[in-house]
Amino acid sequence: SMAEKGGYKHFMLKEIHEQPRAIADTIRGRVLPDGSEVVYKELGIRFEELALTRKIYLVACGTSYHACLIGKYMIENIAKTPVETDIASEFRYRNVPFEQDSLFIAITQSGETADTLAALRFAKKSGVKTLAICNVVGSTASREADGVFYTHSGPEIGVASTKAFTTQIVALYLLTLALAKAKGLLVEQSYISFLRNLLMLPRMAEEALKLENRIQQLAKEVYRKPNFLYLGRGLCYPVALEGALKLKEISYIHAEGYAAGEMKHGPIALVEEGFPVVFIVSDDFYLDKTLSNMEEIKARDGFIITISDSKKEKLKKLSDRFIYVEGIHTYLNTVLFSIPLQLLAYHVAVLRGCDVDQPRNLAKSVTVE
Ligand code: G6P
Repeated sequence: SMAEKGGYKHFMLKEIHEQPRAIADTIRGRVLPDGSEVVYKELGIRFEELALTRKIYLVACGTSYHACLIGKYMIENIAKTPVETDIASEFRYRNVPFEQDSLFIAITQSGETADTLAALRFAKKSGVKTLAICNVVGSTASREADGVFYTHSGPEIGVASTKAFTTQIVALYLLTLALAKAKGLLVEQSYISFLRNLLMLPRMAEEALKLENRIQQLAKEVYRKPNFLYLGRGLCYPVALEGALKLKEISYIHAEGYAAGEMKHGPIALVEEGFPVVFIVSDDFYLDKTLSNMEEIKARDGFIITISDSKKEKLKKLSDRFIYVEGIHTYLNTVLFSIPLQLLAYHVAVLRGCDVDQPRNLAKSVTVE
């Protein structure tokens, strides 16, 4: 009924709009109210254990795997700790020779995904310390892992994950800061500014949601296209993967996410007049590199949709449609850029008459191999 959807037409739309609240709930109790410090005992792993961690394995399926990729960039950049990421169905069978002082992190909304549980059990059996980033309280993963970090984003009913994903990013951001701090890598000032940025996120997510009308207009222009390409570099690369997955899952449009720098090794062959390419561009080190990829798409008359927090003239000029998203910082922009991409997938799917909450052939949680 409309009532259980909080007045929204679909659970997915409700859950997209719940993100400011969900993110605040993930943060709650884990940062001191004055924003000066992470509350270490609320992370599912002890400060001393973090200090000893020399390698991290991030493993998951589906959308949760995209959170792993974002986590890798965060942890390696800020906490200078090497991270290996893998899809659980691969990880579970490839006899990983774990390195000493490793931490295995399973990311799973449901805590019941069969492959993710198998990977977690393999890590445990190998004597590696394990942590689950989980949304469902009391789930199998949360019970079996040595520690659990609950995202507390509330029940997610829509099959396509939205708020679970963005709150997983928040969890990884908090763990990254705690790890960096435990290793003595963060000077007080940058630690505090990372935390202040995080405390801004719920309000900024609220701002990003205000783009909905624009996105709906954009959806009307593109919903009949049969193919989409999503491109980004750095942290925007996993955001591109997730944007493409979202569109594919609920609208059945063929969509592919790619690292922008890799496009010339394949996907560019598809580009012809009007071919939609969504560029996700953070105002960071990668901006100029991505601009040159945009020029190559433009030269082939592709239809460029840009999601960015940069107002650079050249970026706007190369874009057929430019969606400005007010950003915070490259790490947290992954959350803010994901919101218009979720809305785009949603509105395209609605225009195509798809069953948004229950897409064909997909399950909310894949509990069999
Ligand atoms: C299914 C769902 C996805 C989800 C994935 C992993 O494919 O449709 O939305 O990302 O499983 O689920 P988990 O509960 O382990 O995060």
